[in-house]
Amino acid sequence: MTSDALKRQAAARALDWVRPGMRLGLGTGSTARHFVELLGDRVRAGLDVVGVPTSEVTAADARRVGVPLATLDQYPQLDLTIDGADEIGPGLALIKGGGGALLREKIVAAASQHMIVIADDSKLVAVLGAFPLPIEIVPFGIAATERAIGDVLRRLSLPVRMTLRVDAGGHPFVTDGGHRIIDAAIGPIAQPGVLAQGLTAIPGVVEHGLFLGLARTAIVAGASGIRVIEERIG
Ligand code: A5P
Repeated sequence: MTSDALKRQAAARALDWVRPGMRLGLGTGSTARHFVELLGDRVRAGLDVVGVPTSEVTAADARRVGVPLATLDQYPQLDLTIDGADEIGPGLALIKGGGGALLREKIVAAASQHMIVIADDSKLVAVLGAFPLPIEIVPFGIAATERAIGDVLRRLSLPVRMTLRVDAGGHPFVTDGGHRIIDAAIGPIAQPGVLAQGLTAIPGVVEHGLFLGLARTAIVAGASGIRVIEERIG
């Protein structure tokens, strides 16, 4: 089975958590897109839910399949967010942002009572960090922000390997919020909480792709079936 088929299986299972009347955070990426499409089937069959999208791309996908949308200002508290991930580590710590939507994804997840991460089993890792960590930064003073990120990495004895993300045309990638993204190829992250604190303290850093303590459930599809991993939070 292809990884895309596994992503769709995980997305389909997540529908079991959806109840009528729910306010849903809608993630971004190829796995989340499967969920939005499958949710659209249910909506067209009469399910009453409203979605808050985590990106302009997801908003367009949701409109296309008929999922009613609202903003986080209309509904500052959501029942459930369903989103993909680039890596799922111990304790359901995640790396996200491969699609560049990490800021809205984190705001929406943090505003939700429950976050479910959906993925194929290639995303499960013993230690986070093989996937380069996306760090969203403001376009002002990029060199100074890079320098400050480098200082944080060196303090934690982590390698300093950073690239400013570019789009398909070779221009700097611009997020929905008008920011840029640095991808930091860090390797194994032994202390994700300490790294997260260090990055958050840098003025030019808007957000980073470490999602710690946010996901409570992971639905992971592999060749041998679907695993549901639950994490107790708080
Ligand atoms: C989007 O910014 C990301 O956080 C995605 O959720 C992540 O990159 C997973 O993407 P796929 O579902 O396409 O693998």
